[in-house]
Amino acid sequence: MATPSLQCTGIEKFLGEGEARVHALRGVTLAVQPGEVHAVVGPSGCGKSSLLYILGLLDRADAGQLVLGGQDVSALDDNAVSRRRNESLGFIFQFHFLLQDFTAAENVMIPMRKLGRQSEEEMRDRAADLLAAVGLGAKGARSSKALSGGEQQRVAIARALANDPEVILADEPTGNLDTANSERVFDLLRNLVHRERKGLLLVTHNPAIATACDVVHTMKDGLVVETVRQ
Ligand SMILES: Nc1ncnc2c1ncn2[C@@H]1O[C@H](COP(=O)(O)OP(=O)(O)OP(=O)(O)O)[C@@H](O)[C@H]1O
Ligand SMILES: [Mg+2]
Repeated sequence: MATPSLQCTGIEKFLGEGEARVHALRGVTLAVQPGEVHAVVGPSGCGKSSLLYILGLLDRADAGQLVLGGQDVSALDDNAVSRRRNESLGFIFQFHFLLQDFTAAENVMIPMRKLGRQSEEEMRDRAADLLAAVGLGAKGARSSKALSGGEQQRVAIARALANDPEVILADEPTGNLDTANSERVFDLLRNLVHRERKGLLLVTHNPAIATACDVVHTMKDGLVVETVRQ
């Protein structure tokens, strides 16, 4: 079998302090192979977002191992972690967090600027291509605050793809979209993952989307209780 795009073993996480301290993740193990789309489903509060933050190198686990593209990243220092995050991970948040005073294209260019590998013109061209792919080809020059919620979510998706990540993590990426745009965005992500052999793990409450994924992990109380390959 190929090297997994992402593999985690025994991930544990405690959140909060004192009385409010919860054992949010109690030993999560899963692996996403290149070219696979995985869904994480489960009730509110079961630990889906907490898991995604750890897999996305936005938070640290209290126990367990995380391997990205064959490299154990569990013990990397903070600088190495942020470089790795910017180079090889694309994250689509539950809420999109665009810079409101920037245009759509400028928002998509932020991760490219951080990486600093392309000329201004190359970055502009790539941003235009990505925005066209999410159906916003005509709106690159618009200020983000002058876009609808669903349009902003699509800009956030284009931004997550900016540096051509090996792994894409998405927390309800289509939660704010109507049915037509939700399907469109999901198809776009799934086709990209299958075609370019990336790994995608997405949290969803939408059964139609979960059904269209290659693998579905069901979480309950901080654990994956069932993994189904469909
Ligand atoms: N910063 C925090 N401090 C304390 N507890 C937290 C914190 N963040 C999350 N939790 C708790 O950890 C558990 C898991 O939360 P998480 O956000 O991962 O759930 P979720 O599965 O993503 O839920 P949802 O479907 O509502 O987004 C919940 O019990 C939540 O209350
Ligand atoms: Mg959540």
